[in-house]
Amino acid sequence: MRKKKIIVGNWKMNPKTPALARSNFTTIKKEVRAYKNVTVVIAVPFVYISELGKLASAGLALGAQNVSAEKEGPYTGEVSAEMLAAYKTKYVIVGHSERRELGETNAFIARKVKTVLAAGLTPILCIGEKDRDHGMLYLGVVKTQLEECLAGIPKNSIAKIVIAYEPVWAISSTPNRRDATPEDCEEMRIYIRKVLSDMVGGSLADEVAILYGGSVDEKDALGFLSKGNADGLLPGRASLNPKIFLKIIKIANEIR
Ligand code: PGA
Repeated sequence: MRKKKIIVGNWKMNPKTPALARSNFTTIKKEVRAYKNVTVVIAVPFVYISELGKLASAGLALGAQNVSAEKEGPYTGEVSAEMLAAYKTKYVIVGHSERRELGETNAFIARKVKTVLAAGLTPILCIGEKDRDHGMLYLGVVKTQLEECLAGIPKNSIAKIVIAYEPVWAISSTPNRRDATPEDCEEMRIYIRKVLSDMVGGSLADEVAILYGGSVDEKDALGFLSKGNADGLLPGRASLNPKIFLKIIKIANEIR
């Protein structure tokens, strides 16, 4: 079993004001000091990175939700991994389904994974199928995502990546969404580990943290972490309310 669970809050395009971003981040930072068995990250909008980087601590790491695939140059509107690193960002979400929906392909995401690693940051690679079919073709979707998003990346670097399995059909913003179960999570965790193990060998694959995300809240967090055996969680909506987010962190901290 892995040492520390990892809880990543994905704030998406929230909160509305810098004042609220500051106050929520500070509230969480104060409370997480007491929790030593969990790694906590909050992935915030770019505009808050500079300010929240000053508040980030050993107990509460700062994450970004996106990054340029390019190292530097004339790319209007883009932010490089090195720029993020300069403001104390430690993690970067790449390949989120909401960005794939805007046209990001596996090959493009692979380039982002590489720039994030080159800047010394940890990529949180999101993968997950849009639908579940009875023929289990969704396993092939996830396998292709893993193989193509990690193509060309050295085996030792793959071991440092965090994978977030986020079935799109369970994410809170998906119309007619439905809940995933700890069993769904466990099945996919085993499968992802196997695909990784075929790519980099069993012992390096074992080092990769595999998180679950998709409408996680304080009621089902325990199930995904214990029965579902997830190495951590990636809540979106539930991370916007510090009280609820802290409950999830506490659950992860207390799990043995
Ligand atoms: P959700 O978001 O918890 O609101 O479903 C998770 C995500 O999309 O990363």
